[in-house]
Amino acid sequence: MKTLILYFTTDGQTKLIAERLAEHITHETELRSLREHANMTDEQLAAFDQIVIGASVRYGHFNPLVYQFIAQHFAILNQKTTAFYGVNLTARKPNRQTPESNTYIRKFLQKILWRPTHVEVIAGALFYPRYSWFDRTMIRFIMKLTKGETDITREYEYTDWAQVERFAQRLSKLN
Ligand SMILES: Cc1cc2nc3c(=O)[nH]c(=O)nc-3n(C[C@H](O)[C@H](O)[C@H](O)COP(=O)(O)O)c2cc1C
Repeated sequence: MKTLILYFTTDGQTKLIAERLAEHITHETELRSLREHANMTDEQLAAFDQIVIGASVRYGHFNPLVYQFIAQHFAILNQKTTAFYGVNLTARKPNRQTPESNTYIRKFLQKILWRPTHVEVIAGALFYPRYSWFDRTMIRFIMKLTKGETDITREYEYTDWAQVERFAQRLSKLN
């Protein structure tokens, strides 16, 4: 039994989640950066029993590379047990944590031909001091509008690690 986790991260949170999943999945699990393995072939993917793809939202969208990868491989993905996890800040709100109620995930799933066996919506992190001036200003503005944290000297992590571990338990069952 072998699981592949492919993650697309910019600031590291989606990778941290992938690492936590790998720690808690009870069978062999391989972690790969989608950015670095964007040229994987269907034959290479076929070697895994279960495939998980994780990605984060930036300015309303998942990275084009994620769409490209899925467009290239949806046929093999649809033949396997698969999961997608989407990371974003909107998911910090309890009423935005399902694929139906989280607009980014809902729209993403409408655009792609892959039908993941399971979809998980996971809250990300807010690392104000690490962002460029432009990103910091933009995110702070969005957080203000959505009644979130606005202290730019601080870092906030909204990821629910108990949720990530429950997700890993589910992935351990391979169904
Ligand atoms: C420049 C930038 C733009 C972002 N845009 C959004 C957004 O439109 N909606 C949202 O819910 N979260 C947004 N986020 C929050 C990210 O999804 C969150 O920080 C996530 O943890 C990033 O994951 P990563 O570290 O794996 O890239 C944004 C974050 C940054 C830095």
